[in-house]
Amino acid sequence: MGGSDKMPLWNKLVLSALYQLDPETAHHVAIWTLENGLSGNYAGSDDPILTTTVLGIEFPNPVGLAAGFDKDARAIDGALKLGFGFVEAGTVTPRPQPGNPKPRLFRLDEDQAVINRFGFNSEGLEPFRKRLSQRINKGPRGGIVGANVGKNKLTEDAAADYVAGIEALTPFSHYLVVNLSSPNTPGLRALQAKDPITDLLERTIAARAKMAAGLETKPPLLAKIGPDLSLQDMQDIVDVALATGVDGLIVGNTTIERPEGLASVKCREAGGLSGLPLTELSTACLAQIYSLCGGKIPIIGCGGVANGQDAYAKIRAGASLVQLYSALVFRGLQLVPEVKRELAALLRRDGFVCVADAVGADHRSDT
Ligand SMILES: Cc1cc2nc3c(=O)[nH]c(=O)nc-3n(C[C@H](O)[C@H](O)[C@H](O)COP(=O)(O)O)c2cc1C
Repeated sequence: MGGSDKMPLWNKLVLSALYQLDPETAHHVAIWTLENGLSGNYAGSDDPILTTTVLGIEFPNPVGLAAGFDKDARAIDGALKLGFGFVEAGTVTPRPQPGNPKPRLFRLDEDQAVINRFGFNSEGLEPFRKRLSQRINKGPRGGIVGANVGKNKLTEDAAADYVAGIEALTPFSHYLVVNLSSPNTPGLRALQAKDPITDLLERTIAARAKMAAGLETKPPLLAKIGPDLSLQDMQDIVDVALATGVDGLIVGNTTIERPEGLASVKCREAGGLSGLPLTELSTACLAQIYSLCGGKIPIIGCGGVANGQDAYAKIRAGASLVQLYSALVFRGLQLVPEVKRELAALLRRDGFVCVADAVGADHRSDT
């Protein structure tokens, strides 16, 4: 376990207790603990060098919780107390659905990785909307929350499901995400092709405009894409993103690739791979997208972030914010404060005065 030598005893005990359970049960226990405020508070006040304004929102730090951990928006406040600068809840589907048969979540201990094939298990929009509506009045100071929406498995007009999600959640979210890249819903990733993504973004952007008409602020809308894209796919997505005026991209989701060298027996399970083996692939994809759009579209970098160095690499490659999920499984409650501390030190070491200064630094000759 990377860095486990430095892991405090209490954190080792929490993790080894969770490892006695099957991964999905352990996940439910983690959600329940956060939901009931039993996990403690690791937020503290953030180092000012980490404060950053992106998408018109001031983030206390650039490290967010990725989608999929809190699919039903149950544990937002608990997750914020882990020290995240923002939390993305979902993916939520319009109608409740059970997802794929179990087992569907696998921990690859030797590889510091996770494979999941949940297939959008979701309680549906109604309870999700209700939970977000109960906390939006706190404003950004109460914690920044994104809502990530998807489609039900059997829906044919995919864009209609996304529109339903955006309509329901625009008034209650600080930002919105259309997830076009889960490998576990048949046909979903085909939505990243030029025509479907154009239609989907145009319709969801229109839905957001309609619902935001009476609101003080219009939540930015982002598209979450996968790391398994050809250069042509990426070029098409960037063209459509610039043409439709989508506010940002999340790069990205889990991979269907199985990079060489995976050691765990479970590495051939079907589903999306995340964690350490995804780090390089997703950062390379992010760098490519940043360069194709000439830095004109804010990007949230996600995939394999497990320490400050990984977060910093994504920022230098072009991410304005980063997100993580899988590393939490291996590093537990100490992770987020550690990532933030290391990131702040790296920014200072290289003479940056804020996160924004470092965004895309690898693409410039002077930094
Ligand atoms: C168990 C699990 C469930 C996930 N579910 C979702 C999801 O519902 N929606 C989504 O956009 N991404 C989902 N993801 C992908 C993560 O948000 C993230 O993009 C990916 O795991 C890469 O980040 P990581 O390596 O830090 O985990 C899921 C990931 C995992 C591990």
